[in-house]
Amino acid sequence: MKRPNAEPPYLYLPIILSILLAPPAFSECYYPNGTIETNPAYQQCPDFNGTRMCCATNRSNPFGGADTNGWTANKCLPNGLCLDGFTTINTHGEKVQVQQYWRDTCTSQNWDDGGCLKACAGSVC
Ligand SMILES: *[C@@H]1O[C@H](CO)[C@@H](O)[C@H](O)[C@H]1NC(C)=O
Ligand SMILES: *[C@@H]1O[C@H](CO)[C@@H](O)[C@H](O)[C@H]1NC(C)=O
Ligand SMILES: *[C@@H]1O[C@H](CO)[C@@H](O)[C@H](O)[C@H]1NC(C)=O
Repeated sequence: MKRPNAEPPYLYLPIILSILLAPPAFSECYYPNGTIETNPAYQQCPDFNGTRMCCATNRSNPFGGADTNGWTANKCLPNGLCLDGFTTINTHGEKVQVQQYWRDTCTSQNWDDGGCLKACAGSVC
């Protein structure tokens, strides 16, 4: 039996297609003060047990690359920090690997949903 007010199925097709073709959900990254990070180097990290942090993972100079080629791509850590690694020449002229940790941005604009690592996020660090 046909329902009198039902739309023909083909009318739904464009809607279904546009949902299927939509780009994957993209999260913006924010500083603790709510300012959006517009640098495309900063991308949302994998969800490590509810973390929602962003790190500068999108850089062409790979992790561990030479600092003479600019900033290197960082790695997301399960604790919410970002690991930065690069190669440089120290004051003795030796080639050395340097690693440093950053607390970067978070996908929650108000930093208040539990997934943001609030280390050094206030006025005191
Ligand atoms: C928010 O913090 C970021 C990073 O410290 C800074 O670059 C930006 O200017 C700040 N925005 C405002 C409105 O204070
Ligand atoms: C990664 O960075 C490049 C610029 O270096 C930018 O064009 C690209 O859109 C960024 N990727 C994402 C997923 O935002
Ligand atoms: C995830 O977080 C919960 C709550 O903080 C904790 O009990 C659990 O051990 C964590 N699991 C992992 C794999 O870190």
